[in-house]
Amino acid sequence: MKKNFLSILDFTKNDLFEALDLALELKEKRKNEEFPELLPKKTLGMIFEKASTRTRISFETGMFELGGHAIFLNPNDMQLGRGEAICDTAKVLSRYLSVVMMRSNSHSTVEEIADNANIPVINGLSDKEHPCQILADILTMKEIFKDDLNKLKVVWIGDGNNVCNSLILSSVLTGYEVCVSTPKGYEPDPEYIKNAQKAGGNVKYIEDPAKAAEDADVIYTDTWISMGSEAEKDSRLQAFSGYCVDENLLKNAKDGAVVMHCLPAHRGDEITDSVMDGKQSVVWQQAENRLHAQKALMVMLLGKNK
Ligand code: CP
Ligand code: NVA
Repeated sequence: MKKNFLSILDFTKNDLFEALDLALELKEKRKNEEFPELLPKKTLGMIFEKASTRTRISFETGMFELGGHAIFLNPNDMQLGRGEAICDTAKVLSRYLSVVMMRSNSHSTVEEIADNANIPVINGLSDKEHPCQILADILTMKEIFKDDLNKLKVVWIGDGNNVCNSLILSSVLTGYEVCVSTPKGYEPDPEYIKNAQKAGGNVKYIEDPAKAAEDADVIYTDTWISMGSEAEKDSRLQAFSGYCVDENLLKNAKDGAVVMHCLPAHRGDEITDSVMDGKQSVVWQQAENRLHAQKALMVMLLGKNK
């Protein structure tokens, strides 16, 4: 049966650790200019309803390095933009492509593509989840903390958004604690917390960011104004003041704590320049790891035996 990657929980623990090992192996080889062509003649279609720098470039580069090919698809240049049904589009794409990655405004769109395609479908960010980001972030945490993932306290500061939801779910696979700190009214969807807890995830919520950051191994933040929320800019900037990841907040975390951000950052809002460019920041490592993690993901969905 074809496997999709719409949520980080579409991976089992075994899938996750297999993907991490493969990503590390491919990363190491790439340092020596070795590019194992594990996906020759495979084609990735990438549909973007929203802007992207990292996701687009890392997927396209990744598929090329694996010996395949990637096609960027703007829905407005497709018949989708003129009203062709999503279900029909999915069926047609399945006749040409090996795998589809979609960044959609609404999670239901990527689900509808997945339901109607008979090739694997990857969620490249929706309003609800960003599983590729979290896969790369777990790779980053594994590089830093080795086999101690299950001992970590990972603190989310800011908006309870799509990246936060995926981080919450990832607690089920990694065993780390995810402590979420948001202003009232911007908490993550309670369903995500409930589902993660039911599946054994260690998820907590503390409104006060300074308290939440106490003894953190990882402080993670993201923009306060996600794509699609631009009209709420003024009210959001007001609501989130006090949730900036700055030097002062960082003092509450453990000495060896690292700061993560999925990027793009709005410097001066959710993170200060000095933290983003400081010694504890691992944001560039995270961005690079999108490439290695997604190469591993595509091999797992499409690899030799499939
Ligand atoms: N982090 C991330 O998904 O970045 P892009 O929006 O640039 O793809
Ligand atoms: N939460 C952000 C993530 C961008 C990668 C957004 O949805 O815009």
